[in-house]
Amino acid sequence: MARRSGMFLLIAAAALLAAGAAVPPSCERSECPAYDVVDAANGFEIRRYKDAMWASTAPIEDISLVAATRSGFLQLFKYIQGKNAYNATIEMTAPVLTRVSPSDGPFCASSFVVSFYVPEKNQADPPPAEGLSVQRWAGARYAAVRRFGGFVADSDVGEQAAMLDASLQGTRWAAPVSDGRRADAATAYTVAQYNSPFEFSGRVNEIWMLFDGNDASSDM
Ligand SMILES: *[C@@H]1O[C@H](CO)[C@@H](O)[C@H](O)[C@H]1NC(C)=O
Repeated sequence: MARRSGMFLLIAAAALLAAGAAVPPSCERSECPAYDVVDAANGFEIRRYKDAMWASTAPIEDISLVAATRSGFLQLFKYIQGKNAYNATIEMTAPVLTRVSPSDGPFCASSFVVSFYVPEKNQADPPPAEGLSVQRWAGARYAAVRRFGGFVADSDVGEQAAMLDASLQGTRWAAPVSDGRRADAATAYTVAQYNSPFEFSGRVNEIWMLFDGNDASSDM
């Protein structure tokens, strides 16, 4: 038994090294939601996030992810500064998530929801706030993840999402991930940004594709 779990740890460590996916440096300064790595391979990592409360904006219609994230983040920033039912200030966490439901046409607005993880200290009773939904992240808490650096630009997130999608093809994750995306909008994905706009180096961003891992991970 001990030997078996030792072997498992070794495999998990090797998988992590293969993906080069250490926890982002921002998570040493700010609280990040906890997750387990359940698989990793060239170009992707599969994570399982814990059931937790997140604060989210209403859907924001825009043609630009960058602009929608800025306006969504502003609402969340006011929330943590005390614009909430308890007048409570809340610690900032990382990452800021932007869920993208792309439009069908090239000139139509996409729909974006901006979220952040409620810190552990406030998990039991996060303050409600007008215009925001503060709730458990129901359902799919598995994420297929691809990491990339620099500043997120409208011109490259779609390409990063396509590369994540391509890296999953031929693996046992391809079907559950595509089912998970279909449950939302066929081409939905989430952009996770770990740095403030004032940090110019060592920036970490990720594309997440959320899915329900119950089927695919039954052998875990
Ligand atoms: C929050 O602040 C407002 C304005 O200062 C005040 O009217 C309200 O009673 C406060 N609420 C709580 C729960 O402290």
